[in-house]
Amino acid sequence: MPATDHAVEAETERLLRALLHVDCEPGRQWNYEACRRLAPLTLEINALKKEKDAVILTHSYVAPEIIYGVGDFKGDSYFLSLKARESKAKIIVFAGVVFMGETAKILSPAATVLVPDRGSGCSLADSLTGDQLRQLKAAYPDAAVVCYINSTADVKAESDVCVTSGNVYDIIARLPQRRVLFVPDRLMGDNVRNELKRRGIDKEIITSDGTCIVHDVFDAQSVADARARFPGLRVVAHPECTPEVAAVADFVGSTGAMMKYVKNTTAPYFLMLTECGLVSRLQVEAPEKNFIGGCRLCPYMKLNSLEKIRDALVSPRPEQIITLDEDLRRRAAHSIERMFALAPADPL
Ligand code: 13P
Ligand code: SF4
Repeated sequence: MPATDHAVEAETERLLRALLHVDCEPGRQWNYEACRRLAPLTLEINALKKEKDAVILTHSYVAPEIIYGVGDFKGDSYFLSLKARESKAKIIVFAGVVFMGETAKILSPAATVLVPDRGSGCSLADSLTGDQLRQLKAAYPDAAVVCYINSTADVKAESDVCVTSGNVYDIIARLPQRRVLFVPDRLMGDNVRNELKRRGIDKEIITSDGTCIVHDVFDAQSVADARARFPGLRVVAHPECTPEVAAVADFVGSTGAMMKYVKNTTAPYFLMLTECGLVSRLQVEAPEKNFIGGCRLCPYMKLNSLEKIRDALVSPRPEQIITLDEDLRRRAAHSIERMFALAPADPL
């Protein structure tokens, strides 16, 4: 049933109140006209969620109209994994990337898990197959095998424990083995090596060769230039950045921890060395903060759209439905459950 004019007007106002201050993405703005155009679709999706018993999980990098228009939960990989595991809904739509949808299916096998766009890969997850990890394991038989959550279900199934950007240092620090095979993020592996050394923990970290195409391009010289131009600047980086960048940042952490740091810190300016969606979220939730720097987009995250979410809820195409072999799913679940057991109580 089409929404009434009154319902569309009220939804327009709701969207506008949430999105008014978002202006970091060149060429996109969320003024009255834009929100008025989005409103019938967010109303339709929110009605479909009720009708179909669906929940929508949104990673902080997807477009703000998805997060604030139709999302039920928003956050980083760790938080959303917990929400997927807790969910009792018949359908979970994961507005993020495919490995996140796979993780939701691993943790909530009874649910139908949908991803809006099957092409939403990840340069890290796509850098290593289960076969390649098996070969690495054969070369380092005594190593603990630790996978970053940005990995395929096959890689998780071959791993002893999974980690996220919010708990990687603490979990690796707690492992009994000295030698750790950490996949697939080489730069995060470098950051782990440095951080554990700083903590006085003796570990040998061996990595595979993946990097995140969004975070691997930030450089320390640009940070120095920005500090010279903006006195009092706070630099906030994700651990997928290079160790050179991590070394000059004021804070390094998961997207959830980065948000918390900015909200709790008083500074004239912030430089966020991460995907632009996090700046959008902060412009919504901390509109008094000032951000400098360009806007780097994750091309995979940005494949999500309201239209694709609506179509998946109305009638999912086969490629939008996550399916996993049950034996593989169980083995992958083991590494993620081990993460939940080892993770600090509040990863933020
Ligand atoms: P977070 O878990 O910190 O949100 O990181 C996910 C990710 O893909 C970062 O590029
Ligand atoms: Fe993967 Fe990087 Fe995109 Fe995160 S930002 S989903 S690590 S490509």
